[in-house]
Amino acid sequence: MPTVRDLKAKAGDEPITMLTAYDAPTAAIVDEAGTDIILVGDSLGNTSLGYETTLPVTVDDMVRHTAAVSRVTDDALVVADMPFLSIGVDESDSVENAGRMLKEADAQAVKLECGPHTVELTEKLVQLGIPVMAHLGLTPQHVNQYGGYPRQGTDQEAAERILELAEAHEEAGAFSLVLEHVPANLAADVTQALEIPTIGIGAGPDCDGQVLVVDDVVGLSEWAPSFSKQFGNVRAEMESAVDDYVSAVESGEFPAEEHSHEEADLEDLY
Ligand code: KIV
Repeated sequence: MPTVRDLKAKAGDEPITMLTAYDAPTAAIVDEAGTDIILVGDSLGNTSLGYETTLPVTVDDMVRHTAAVSRVTDDALVVADMPFLSIGVDESDSVENAGRMLKEADAQAVKLECGPHTVELTEKLVQLGIPVMAHLGLTPQHVNQYGGYPRQGTDQEAAERILELAEAHEEAGAFSLVLEHVPANLAADVTQALEIPTIGIGAGPDCDGQVLVVDDVVGLSEWAPSFSKQFGNVRAEMESAVDDYVSAVESGEFPAEEHSHEEADLEDLY
C-alpha cells in the first residue's frame, strides 16, 4: 500500500492516478486497476445519496462509505473527504471529525476544501498524525457563494491568491494538493512552485496527477462537467439489464427451472 511519502516522492515522475469510489464493489475495481489514490469524495452526496449539492453530506455518511472502501482496498491510498462544516468551525471538533476517518474508517489521509481558515488546521492535523490533502480552486462546498460551479483563478489577483494558499498549505504540511477547475497555465505554475504533488481536475495536463469522479468515468452519471471524460457506458448497460429483467418477470420467462428448486420431502401445505 503506498504511503503519503511514496506519493510525495512521485511528484514529477509518472503521473499519479486518483479516482473517487464510494462503495466496496467500485473500490475493488478501482484498486485492482492500479489506481494510486482512492478518494471517498463528498461528491458521494451527488453520485450516491441523491442530493443536488454536497452540503447535506455528514461525517457519519463519510465514515460509513470510507470504511466500505477501505475494507476492500489492498493497494491504493484511501483518502476521505471532510464534508461541509465538519472542519474549520471549531478546532477540536475538526480534529475529532478528521480523526474518525482514520480511527473508524481506516482512511490514511483526509482531504480538506481549503481557504485561509485551513492553514493552521492543516498544521495541527499533520502534527497529530493525520495526513492532509489540500483542495483549492473550485471548492464545491462554496456553491452558495459562487452561485454555481464557475472556473476559478481566472484573473491575476485570484490566481495569485490560489498560489499563495497552495504554498501556505504546503508549508503547513499538506502532502498533496487537488486543483479543481482552474486555468491550465495557473495549474502548471502552481505545480512548478510546489514540491508536493498537484492533482488536477479540470486543471490541464501539467499537474502531477489527475482525478475524476468514477461515475463520470464509467458513464453512470446523468450529467458530467465538461472537463470530465466518459470512458465507458455503464448507465446504458444497467438500463438494458434492468429492462430485460422487468420484461422477463412480466412475461414469466424468469425464474426458469434452473433458478428454482423443489424439495421432494415437503408435503403439500395448502
Ligand atoms: O468530492 C469529490 O469527489 C472531489 C473531487 C472531485 C476532487 O472533491
